[in-house]
Amino acid sequence: MFGGFRLDEEGHLRAGGLRVSELAERFGTPLFVLDEDRIRENYRRFRQAFSSRWERVVVAYAYKANSALAVCRVLQQEGAGAEVVSEGELRAALKVGVPPERIFFNGNAKSEAEIELAVEKGVKINLDSLEEVEVVGEVAGRLGKEAEVGLRVNPGIEVPTHPYIATGVKDSKFGLELETGEALEGFRKALEVGLRVKGIHFHLGSQLLDLRPFEEGTRKVMEFAGLLKRELGLELEFVDVGGGLGVPERPGERGPSPEDLASRVVPILEEHAEGGKPFTLVLEPGRYLVGDAGLLLLRVEYVKPRKGGATWICVDGGTNLLLRPALMGTYYHMELADRRGEGGGEVVNVGGPLCQAGDVIGRGRRLPPVRRGDLLVVFNAGAYTLTMANQYNSRPRAAVVMVKGEKAEVIRKRESCEDIWRYDTLPSWL
Ligand SMILES: Cc1ncc(COP(=O)(O)O)c(C=O)c1O
Repeated sequence: MFGGFRLDEEGHLRAGGLRVSELAERFGTPLFVLDEDRIRENYRRFRQAFSSRWERVVVAYAYKANSALAVCRVLQQEGAGAEVVSEGELRAALKVGVPPERIFFNGNAKSEAEIELAVEKGVKINLDSLEEVEVVGEVAGRLGKEAEVGLRVNPGIEVPTHPYIATGVKDSKFGLELETGEALEGFRKALEVGLRVKGIHFHLGSQLLDLRPFEEGTRKVMEFAGLLKRELGLELEFVDVGGGLGVPERPGERGPSPEDLASRVVPILEEHAEGGKPFTLVLEPGRYLVGDAGLLLLRVEYVKPRKGGATWICVDGGTNLLLRPALMGTYYHMELADRRGEGGGEVVNVGGPLCQAGDVIGRGRRLPPVRRGDLLVVFNAGAYTLTMANQYNSRPRAAVVMVKGEKAEVIRKRESCEDIWRYDTLPSWL
């Protein structure tokens, strides 16, 4: 079954040892379900692919994919570091026990308060602009602390993915440009202001199924690392190649494996590291580790046939929980949780409950006959779903359940309407 989940002999989808329809009965819908063992399996496979080829490897899990504390904890137990981009993500990593030296703080608009926190805690900061180099230098000086930094470079590479998730392209807001000399200036300045310059970072984009950009990016960045050594005498202690490994979105599709990625990237590192001090290879996968470990369970509220058009299946969660179809047309595979052995079926559109015509999470899908009350399962829902969810139309965000074999527990409570109003106050005159 798609995403490592399976159907039992009677045609019911299971997560771990449990039927997802039972989970929906027990915990209500909409409901996110995460399979702990699958997360561990994904991590181990990813890590092994690189550590079998390179001596020192840090797999820094990208918290933006899914920052539920239980998920972060599972990965911390496995030995993962953390890629974070905000105070909240940084504090989550520290809270679950990730050692500061394995936390990489990225982002193009870090506030001074965030930088202070990062310097105080001793995490690695990947600097994103010339101005940020100065600010971090000032903050470290003011706090009397040494700041360990990397610089994020923008290699200016076209990547075949949605423009919203292509980050290493020429006009991107991220990083210091290699081509214009900005990156070299950044490194020079970082040394001048007394920062402990430890590494280099790049991230090309997300959901990359073609590995050529990874090769091209690594080659460009490693050539630049050679220049840093010649020009500035700088020996890097870490090279952070970012995240972005794509996962199959449709049944039957094959995505590149971590082994494929490692076999393309590591030889380039070896070629360029020759004679030099071996550096730590840092990777920042998000989607690959948690995406296919998650399901979103939605209840079918109504079935609306349309004369001359596709039938609408109206479900109890939409782009409030699964924003990406609205944001960038992402495809999410869907199935009914329980097969009734009925053949045929029809082509349907799947609409969420929001008062917005764009609240559509699937178009032109072939499903077995769907009835009111059926349970619809959305696959690949472990990454970039709850972290991007919103409360539009005053809809509380869904609960999250983690499954381990026969066990299932809530790891994030369902929000209530009280939670929605929690931060609202009425002014004194009302
Ligand atoms: C800097 C950085 N690192 C890592 C990631 C994780 O990417 P993915 O989840 O595609 O592996 C992202 C995603 O946007 C990112 O911006």
